[in-house]
Amino acid sequence: MKSQRGYSRGEPRRAGNLVIIGCMLLFLCVLSIIKSRFFTGTTGDMKFAVESLKMATDDADESTETEDADASNSHVVDLSKPVCYESSRRSDTCEARGDIRVHGASQTVYVYPMQQEWKIKPYARKHDPFALDYVKQWSIKPFFSGAGSAAATPTPPECTVNSSVPALVFSNGGFTGNLFHDYTDVLVPVFITSYQFRGEVQFLVSSLKSWWVNKFILIFKQLSNYEIIDVDGDREVRCFDRVIVGPTFHKELGVDPSKAPSGYSVVDFKKVLRDAFGLERAAAAPSEDKWDVRRKPRLLIISRKNSRTFLNEQRMADMASSLGFDVRVGEPDMNTDVAKFARLVNSADVMLGVHGAGLTNMVFLPAGAVLIQVVPYGGLEWLAKATFKEPSEEMEIHYMEYMIQLDETTLSEQYPPDHPVLKDPYSIHKQGWDALKTVYLDKQNVKPHLGRLKNSLMEALQLLPHSKTQ
Ligand SMILES: *[C@@H]1O[C@H](CO)[C@@H](O)[C@H](O)[C@H]1NC(C)=O
Repeated sequence: MKSQRGYSRGEPRRAGNLVIIGCMLLFLCVLSIIKSRFFTGTTGDMKFAVESLKMATDDADESTETEDADASNSHVVDLSKPVCYESSRRSDTCEARGDIRVHGASQTVYVYPMQQEWKIKPYARKHDPFALDYVKQWSIKPFFSGAGSAAATPTPPECTVNSSVPALVFSNGGFTGNLFHDYTDVLVPVFITSYQFRGEVQFLVSSLKSWWVNKFILIFKQLSNYEIIDVDGDREVRCFDRVIVGPTFHKELGVDPSKAPSGYSVVDFKKVLRDAFGLERAAAAPSEDKWDVRRKPRLLIISRKNSRTFLNEQRMADMASSLGFDVRVGEPDMNTDVAKFARLVNSADVMLGVHGAGLTNMVFLPAGAVLIQVVPYGGLEWLAKATFKEPSEEMEIHYMEYMIQLDETTLSEQYPPDHPVLKDPYSIHKQGWDALKTVYLDKQNVKPHLGRLKNSLMEALQLLPHSKTQ
């Protein structure tokens, strides 16, 4: 990623580019022939191909570019445009250019020129006051350059470090530490906001937790060529000519290409993850090698210990083996080595697990793999849908659901048959998230019927390229 410049557009194509585009088209034809072998044909394939072509031509442009007009200092600041705005229902974002001075110790960004002062919490969960309790508020303050400053205008501190690349300020507070929130609240929004800079961006992290940054450092290294700064504890006054405070949210674990600065998607995010962790499989396909164990489709069961546990995990695994799966069981927790777990998930063709943060590992699944979300008892379809079902399509993952029924949940042992917990889950939902969470998420274990589960796994097998090549 080093030494690359930002995106640029509108330049006349050169002959060299045409050759490259021609090669790309040929490559895409070959690719689509290969893909049509492995995928059940959908219009999604075409979209994927077009996007690949677009990316490739952007790359081609870039290699012949000498200047990125967008990032140059000569940018004219439009003072009528608000610096801070609601970049989505989940996020506020401030974007400023000019003379920018970041004083991290006081969570202040001084900007010249700018009309008014702003406040922002740079964490993509603005609808959630509980999460925001753990996020420091930042001030964006105007100042006048040079003599004649009005009394009310803060005197900006002198720069102690000058930087020629843009800065992105985001928070490591909120719900970070839960894998789902790590990705949906921070990593994906940071990707959305920073990928356009191709590494030439300085991350300034507020409420930084070093164990957390270290956990995901390989991802951050793909997005920024610079050391991450613990900005709250920073003694420097860091100066920039462009700053973004608060990464932009699009949707749960997702990227909306029509809103992304250069049209990129969650498929590009998955590519960043593969590059970060050295993941080999872009797509689920059986190994060509006759003797390789990967000729068998691999099933990864995501195990949980403290709640929503599979009580018959071993028997589930044995049954899956009898269907021809190479079965692995993994339990990701706070201390899991992300790279190691990412490689395990990437080696899987089917991932099966009960609704929970562990399923966020779907970001490492190869295209064409199957995710089976086991939905605990209690009318939780809407939760299953918003968290993992909806993101799966753009991740090019086949999605299946296994709904836990009354005779498969330990709740039926804890409550009499006519109790509202069993008879009327929505009456519990109405009591609020805490009630729902306590009953259906924290106090429930599950024991899927092996016969029903077998049907689901056979259906999953049919979706895999393995079943088409044998
Ligand atoms: C940073 O840049 C400003 C303006 O060009 C200059 O006056 C100042 O001396 C520089 N400071 C450092 C520490 O390089």
